[in-house]
Amino acid sequence: MDPLRFIETLTERAAIYCPSLNDTFSAQVRPADPRFGDYQSNGLLPFAKKNKSDPMALAKQLLEAMQKLIEKDNIPLSVDVAPPGFINFVLLPKFLEDRIGDFLSLESIRKLVKNPQPPQQVVIDYSSPNSAKQMHVGHIRSTVIGESLARILSFTGSSVIRDNHIGDWGTQFGILLMQVKSIQFNIMCKDTNLDHLENLYRQGNARFQQDPLIKKEVYKELKKLQNGDPENVAIWDRINKISYASFQKIYDILGVSFDHLLGESFYCHQVDRVYKELTEESIAEESQGALVVFHPEHHRFDTVPFIVRKSDQTSNYASTDLATILYRVERFQSQKVIYVTDTRQQDHFQQLFLTTQKWFKSKKYYLPQLEHITFGSILGEDGKAIKTRSGEPIRLEELLQEAEARALELVTQKNPDLNESERNEIARVVGVGAVKYADLMQNRKSDYIFSWDKMISFEGNTAPYLLYAVARIHSIFRKAGISIDSFNVSSISLCDQEEMTLVKKIIPFQSVIRQVRTDLYPHIIANFLFELATSFSSFYTNCQVLHQEEVVRSRRLALSLATLNTLTTGLDLLGIETLEKM
Ligand code: ARG
Repeated sequence: MDPLRFIETLTERAAIYCPSLNDTFSAQVRPADPRFGDYQSNGLLPFAKKNKSDPMALAKQLLEAMQKLIEKDNIPLSVDVAPPGFINFVLLPKFLEDRIGDFLSLESIRKLVKNPQPPQQVVIDYSSPNSAKQMHVGHIRSTVIGESLARILSFTGSSVIRDNHIGDWGTQFGILLMQVKSIQFNIMCKDTNLDHLENLYRQGNARFQQDPLIKKEVYKELKKLQNGDPENVAIWDRINKISYASFQKIYDILGVSFDHLLGESFYCHQVDRVYKELTEESIAEESQGALVVFHPEHHRFDTVPFIVRKSDQTSNYASTDLATILYRVERFQSQKVIYVTDTRQQDHFQQLFLTTQKWFKSKKYYLPQLEHITFGSILGEDGKAIKTRSGEPIRLEELLQEAEARALELVTQKNPDLNESERNEIARVVGVGAVKYADLMQNRKSDYIFSWDKMISFEGNTAPYLLYAVARIHSIFRKAGISIDSFNVSSISLCDQEEMTLVKKIIPFQSVIRQVRTDLYPHIIANFLFELATSFSSFYTNCQVLHQEEVVRSRRLALSLATLNTLTTGLDLLGIETLEKM
């Protein structure tokens, strides 16, 4: 057995070794203080306290049983106990030497982390901005987190469909149609842009909020659109084209592309089937003219309805989302659908999932796993939702431009000798990478404070720091006059403590990816990469790489390459480009 696996699964096997450790025992293994070992299990202490037994006696029993197995199966691991009842594990050099080979090429890392199960069909619904509105800073989280999850799942062997579920069918179109018509705005003019649309919306919305007659007009226009009125459809289409062109600019900067762009409107002809089936199966009922679903088993949704068709008979966010799930199952054979939106949509998705479960069960449709991946808000330095000085939401495009400009300053300070086009390219990668990384290094469920100074810095857990570590390793190879692609080592025997420490930081990559594939928290990868880069930095300070006898030099180059491949792979999984020179 792999020693890491042995350690990871200790909780499940402990009772076999030591019958008094019943199922309330949890090994609580964590990386240890290096003076005591590589990993330490602390779980005996709370267990013994609760069961009034002697932790050290239990530790010794467990130790003896584990040692027997380790010896029998020849596991490259040593175990020991320490008072008052800790168990310490040390990975043996042989294991480290065998494992490091897996990190010497990008291809072998890919093989290492690939899930052996047959590929699962996964749809990731992310980014999904609303038409006729600028993408604002809030949309960056869905785009960046969703893209990272798509990469992680496809890298580990799932078959991933990236679907941008644009909001192109809601009330905002009724408002826009009303406003365009009432001021006879020439929307077909080729100069019309998203700013114009936003203004129209703002003016229209103010009237919509104040004037009941306008409100009526808005819903009339919306209904006409939903019923296929040619004039309204043409205006709607024009609004979407303008919006998509501006979204695309941002996707190009972020390096994100989708397999499908199927907005809410795409499902407008499929909602009738939803109404019909939900009614036939007695899942939905009429209430004050609307079609609604209650969930009596739920403490809130027993009285808060999920409105699946509005009282004016038009569809809404819920109707199109229900139709979308059916489409994804029938068309894409999805086994899993992941939605990436902020926490505020939790109720919508809970009601959507509950309704789908009942509907699919009674129709005997295949029910995919449905998962809502939530995230918190981006806050300004004042701790409130981030805004421009004048109180507007910050536009993503401007934010990304500013990131590049700031990165250019940083790069120019660090390396004034590079020529302008090199500096611009570095600034592009560093700027966009910094914004993405600042988002991904946070637990996605938390809010975080947006700080230029923290994210565009070579110090701390930042993209520039990691990208610099990558570029530094490339430069080591350049100095050695060796091309990375042709570099080869036969076998490695590790001698120095610093070398072993570095290898021990690299090897857990496999279990980190395994964990993130299941839990979908990209910050775990980010934190792993930061620790690895820090560890490489201390390895490089303490271990001369280049001016050494051949065995030592090639061993240390191999460790540098393993670090490089791991960092590059990890950053790629976060959607961050790397550089050979900085
Ligand atoms: N357009 C929505 C918004 O900006 C997000 C859509 C998420 N996807 C979905 N299938 N509901 O809030």
